Amino acid sequence: MQNVVSKLDAVIQKYHGKKGALIPLMQEVQDLEGYLSHNTMQYLSEQTNVPVAEIFGVATFYSMFRLKAQGRHVIRICKGTACHVSGANGILYSLRENLQLEPGEETTTDGNFTLVEVACLGCCSLAPVIMIDDQTFGTLTPEAIPSILDKFAFAGDTV
Ligand code: FES
Repeated sequence: MQNVVSKLDAVIQKYHGKKGALIPLMQEVQDLEGYLSHNTMQYLSEQTNVPVAEIFGVATFYSMFRLKAQGRHVIRICKGTACHVSGANGILYSLRENLQLEPGEETTTDGNFTLVEVACLGCCSLAPVIMIDDQTFGTLTPEAIPSILDKFAFAGDTV
């Protein structure tokens, strides 16, 4: 924790007194832990004298900011038109079933995957499409999902 605080302080110091620095500052802070926790936003507010409501407002307005921790792997499923008409709903159902996600849940209980729905991944000719981290998987069927997920299975911590 101390290590994170000292890194946080270093980032805050880097932007100290610079105009228009709130968004780049928040981006760098998010890079430290992968998301902006309530405690981190509170600390940022105390150290920068920017009201916490303003920081929270920026964090919720811009889609690049995340308020929840994400899994080790982020799965983006396209719900755009081309993917929708090519069976994206079946892919989504298969993903949620294989990941054992309850309604409303985005991250698996082992913290290995976070599932996010997006509007278009920019490769509509491959519909239906998902991306896992920076790898694209196209012309999918629901049956293909388990073997794809296996490639990203969490092997556990090694000693
Ligand atoms: S609609 Fe799915 S990639 Fe464009």
